[in-house]
Amino acid sequence: MADKIIVAFDMYGTLLSTDSISKQLEIYLGSDAAPSIATLWRRYQLEYTWRLNSMEQYEDFAAVTRNSLRHALNESGQQLKDTEIESLIKAYDSLHTFPDVGPALNRIANNSSIRAVIFSNGTKDMISNSVLRSADLSKHASIFSDLVTVDEIRKYKPSPITYQHVAKKVGKELSQMGEIWLVSSNPFDIVGARTAGMNAIWVDRAARGWQDAACPGIEPTAIVHSLEQIVTKINSKH
Ligand code: 2OP
Repeated sequence: MADKIIVAFDMYGTLLSTDSISKQLEIYLGSDAAPSIATLWRRYQLEYTWRLNSMEQYEDFAAVTRNSLRHALNESGQQLKDTEIESLIKAYDSLHTFPDVGPALNRIANNSSIRAVIFSNGTKDMISNSVLRSADLSKHASIFSDLVTVDEIRKYKPSPITYQHVAKKVGKELSQMGEIWLVSSNPFDIVGARTAGMNAIWVDRAARGWQDAACPGIEPTAIVHSLEQIVTKINSKH
């Protein structure tokens, strides 16, 4: 029997909309301030992971998420009580999925040639809470054969070590990196995976086109505008 195709799904920004936290922020800050603070929060959350990698330091993603929220609030001249911050952090465990996620995961559930895993910066607790208990994702939890977190190696994407880690978890050698497909909406994640030797599908929901030039010449293996197109794309390139 042929080996299954390994598809590693990024979580935040790909399956789960980090913008959906905006609704929870609105409760405390109103609808004018909330969207820009949600965007700033996400930007600092990612920036902190890259800075920690560069300094060879590590704080887990739950701490990074909390600390970057405080930064975004301070910079925006806003203050929240500790209890409100904790309730926002808790809300991070039940972010909403994008509308194409359910249909796409149903297609994968019906495709026996694909083995799907989650591959995320989130801690095991964060990933488990989102995948196993959130209203949107829990009904699809059984399609994921593993929940792989970078927390196990204390390095964040896009360090090559993180992509090698997911390969190891799915039983692939470094020489077999090309047998793994990352699916991500985050361009830095796509460039990281491609640089590490994986295939990578960029989910460009806004149809903006590829602009990332961190490593000129490195591009996604394929681009889709909806997650529902990934099975067709993988089959056409495999
Ligand atoms: C994730 O690893 C990059 O936040 C993104 O889930």
